Amino acid sequence: MAELVVVSDEQAAGALVADAIVSLIRRKPDAVLGLATGSTPLATYRALADRIGGGTLDVRGVRGFALDEYVGLPAGHPESYRAVITREVVEPLGLTPELVRVPNGDPATVEHAGADYEQAILAAGGVDLQILGIGRTGHIGFNEPGSSLASLTRVKTLTEPTRADNARFFDSPEDVPMHCITQGIGTILRARHLVLLAFGEAKADAIAAAVEGPVTASQPGSAVQLHPHTTVIVDEAAASKLENLSYYRHAWLNKPSWQGI
Ligand code: F6R
Repeated sequence: MAELVVVSDEQAAGALVADAIVSLIRRKPDAVLGLATGSTPLATYRALADRIGGGTLDVRGVRGFALDEYVGLPAGHPESYRAVITREVVEPLGLTPELVRVPNGDPATVEHAGADYEQAILAAGGVDLQILGIGRTGHIGFNEPGSSLASLTRVKTLTEPTRADNARFFDSPEDVPMHCITQGIGTILRARHLVLLAFGEAKADAIAAAVEGPVTASQPGSAVQLHPHTTVIVDEAAASKLENLSYYRHAWLNKPSWQGI
């Protein structure tokens, strides 16, 4: 079973994940982080920046791989995930820019960009800790319902609900690209530790399906049940449709203190 932790808010989740990442980097200074974009991981990145800010942790060797990128946005577009990762992660954390990769969404080369990205992740020795958000459709990365559970990095077509959700970052809904390049579910499952975050009532159905539903390509988040080390961290609202909630709370309260997440 995935471990499920209910926290009071995004800041509490961010603190928990940032502590886990700090201890990973202390153990492994060239740790490989799997980086989600969107609103969900922002508190984690801020908490991590606060912890690194003191200068006691050398992060110059830390490597990163973003989950996904839009296809066809002009280079430097502020909502390209390359720009978002630079703004929200690389700069505030002081990571080495050349060590943080984002899939290449340039239409001219996108045909082989997925295979190139897979190769780069393998060459880095794989992802140590993968941060994940989840979409209302149940997507992780941009693996929309129907994505193969064995899929690797490739081009996908976004669903209309996902385009509508992401319209908040663009001037108009039509500006949200139709296509993306995303790590596959198979790619994500190769990471050594998955940390799935979700906040707010709008995510409650997707979290219930991911954690307690059948494992199915129709709910891509449910693939986390196949992973031996998954930590799901949610607030009360996102947890509100879980049937076994009292057990998850009980297990967390009684967790041996040495274990961490
Ligand atoms: C982002 C990503 C997506 C988001 C998901 C939730 O890199 O892969 O799966 O995590 O769409 O988005 P937010 O966090 O904005 O609700």
